[in-house]
Amino acid sequence: MARSSGLLAGLSIEPLDVRKGGLRYAMTGDGQFRFERGGIAGSTRAQFFIGSGAVGRSFLWQKDGFLFQLPMSWYRGHGWDWSPGYESSETLHLSRPIAPECLNCHGTGIQHRTGTQNGYEWPPVAQGGIGCERCHGPGRAHMASGSADQIVNPSKLTPRLRDSVCAQCHLTGVERVERVGRRAEEFRASDDFDRYFAVFVWDRPAADGLHTTSHYERLESSGCRKGAGEKLWCGSCHDSHEQPPAASAAAYYRERCMTCHNRSAHAQEKEECLACHMPRRGATDATRVSFTDHSIPRDATGKPPSGSRELRAFRGEASPRELGMAWARIANAQRNEEDFGKARGLLNQAYSNGMRDAAALTVLGFLEDRAGNTDRAVEFYEHTRRIGEPQAEALVNLGANYAERKRLKEAVEVWREAARRSPGLESAWVKLATAYLVLGQRDDAREAIRRCLEYHPDSEAIKEIQAALAQ
Ligand code: HEC
Ligand code: HEC
Ligand code: HEC
Ligand code: HEC
Ligand code: HEC
Ligand code: HEC
Repeated sequence: MARSSGLLAGLSIEPLDVRKGGLRYAMTGDGQFRFERGGIAGSTRAQFFIGSGAVGRSFLWQKDGFLFQLPMSWYRGHGWDWSPGYESSETLHLSRPIAPECLNCHGTGIQHRTGTQNGYEWPPVAQGGIGCERCHGPGRAHMASGSADQIVNPSKLTPRLRDSVCAQCHLTGVERVERVGRRAEEFRASDDFDRYFAVFVWDRPAADGLHTTSHYERLESSGCRKGAGEKLWCGSCHDSHEQPPAASAAAYYRERCMTCHNRSAHAQEKEECLACHMPRRGATDATRVSFTDHSIPRDATGKPPSGSRELRAFRGEASPRELGMAWARIANAQRNEEDFGKARGLLNQAYSNGMRDAAALTVLGFLEDRAGNTDRAVEFYEHTRRIGEPQAEALVNLGANYAERKRLKEAVEVWREAARRSPGLESAWVKLATAYLVLGQRDDAREAIRRCLEYHPDSEAIKEIQAALAQ
């Protein structure tokens, strides 16, 4: 955990040189990254990494403090391959924004610039990796006094708060939704996880559905947790400060099992426990990756139960706002119309009950927009803009709605704001360049094109605008 992110400086990287379809990506051992497609080529520098490399490692580049993920990641035992979710891209893909959540789980003391989607002070985290404070709370008083009473000892908290310390990063369920007014970055050891997040899981999860960060929910369903209750937690088997070396891991974990199962005749005669009770299985949300099954099955060879597609709150209570947000994300990822409908119904219900926060209003705006209720969508987008926290994508849509209503000047204003908040957003630049062309502001159009190409060197939409500009 301590090595889970950081500046690239000094790190040596396995060189990369691949062609995939019409794309070519290459990286030198010191992070110089080159890209090429159809005669268009350029380069940038990887400056930050995420992932210790125990499983894999992703690389980030930055421009003006805005952080983006590179399209290739490195996987242990396999080497270079697509970053998760990039598998089907046929054009250069350099502009996936790194949202604060990502750095918050992999680093300490995140330095996000408010009002931006992915802008940070440099370096983007005060400390790479998971620092002491993430589990022990702020250390200033402790350092001044040297007294152990001044830091939080997770194992001495109530079980609910103790488990919250690990849950802040290890529990996401199928979807997790921040509660109104809460931000993941503000969570401190000894806070209650349930006050920050609503977590949703499938009502009956498919047994083979191991996804990244599913350890917590899996353990919750285990016979051990049901039998031992709150006595069993992550710390029953893991030492937060130290990982056992691979060669002695089997013996190390057996000893942990035997703290509770020493009276089982069956256990006593076995030399190790993991191959049968905690097997490794492939992940569903990342290729080339496998995880340890924390549901500790009695018989791992049994037929997995079939899953259901109903969401339920994993723990704590969930409101229609939170359930609606969860369905909206699932609908968006799977492009499922029925789920879009569910999300819209729930969020409209929440709206009638007084829901007025920016995050949820933005989502409701999107849902109304795609359902063709553009007046209502504009109302929600404008509301979030008044509160001062609009998402860049929502601003792009708001501008499009203004443009359709022949309010092009206002459209330009919100598109510029979108590009300021998220400069890697292609649609913002494309819409701006097109609008400037219509308004006869050709220099502004050229500038928008130039900015777009910094992030999307092979943008097809920009090529068309360039052709129109040349006429
Ligand atoms: C909610 C917290 C959370 C968020 C958000 C998150 N991760 Fe992770 N990530 C984890 C945890 C925990 C692991 C360890 C394995 C696990 O639990 O599945 C992990 C594992 C990884 C690994 C493999 C590391 C290794 O070698 O073990 C990489 C690479 C990674 N994440 C990249 C990312 C990137 C890039 C983002 C953002 C775009 C991201 N993660 C967002 C919590 C998170
Ligand atoms: C991933 C969470 C995590 C991180 C990060 C972490 N610790 Fe801990 N630490 C724990 C837990 C859990 C315990 C309690 C262990 C037990 O009692 O079984 C603990 C116990 C301790 C104790 C003993 C406290 C007492 O009351 O006796 C000290 C001291 C300590 N940690 C210091 C550190 C320092 C220094 C760092 C950073 C270099 C650090 N820890 C990072 C989880 C963490
Ligand atoms: C601030 C986020 C964060 C917190 C808090 C946190 N973890 Fe992690 N943990 C991670 C990430 C990210 C990884 C993946 C590290 C990597 O390999 O890049 C990880 C990896 C691990 C691993 C795999 C081995 C290792 O050390 O990399 C174990 C075991 C683990 N965490 C247990 C715990 C336990 C137990 C707690 C609570 C006491 C805890 N974690 C708290 C983020 C966190
Ligand atoms: C904190 C105590 C504790 C620890 C540590 C623990 N268990 Fe358990 N486990 C229990 C209890 C209690 C039960 C329920 C009673 C029983 O079946 O013995 C249980 C049940 C089980 C079962 C039966 C599950 C079922 O569905 O019937 C298996 C298999 C098991 N444990 C394996 C393990 C393995 C393997 C480890 C170590 C990796 C382990 N346990 C660590 C307490 C623990
Ligand atoms: C009953 C014992 C046990 C408990 C309790 C337990 N783990 Fe594990 N965990 C393991 C074993 C065994 C491994 C595999 C270690 C290895 O392969 O070296 C593992 C591996 C991991 C890994 C590394 C990635 C992977 O899937 O192999 C992470 C992350 C992790 N555990 C997180 C957690 C978290 C978070 C909790 C609490 C919610 C937890 N574990 C509770 C036994 C346990
Ligand atoms: C070769 C595979 C295998 C290994 C290795 C193994 N188990 Fe089991 N274990 C099983 C099977 C299969 C069952 C179910 C037996 C049944 O349902 O009658 C079981 C049942 C259990 C149970 C529940 C019944 C009981 O006797 O309490 C526990 C607890 C358990 N195992 C713990 C362990 C522990 C701890 C270890 C390591 C010391 C271990 N097992 C190693 C296959 C294995």
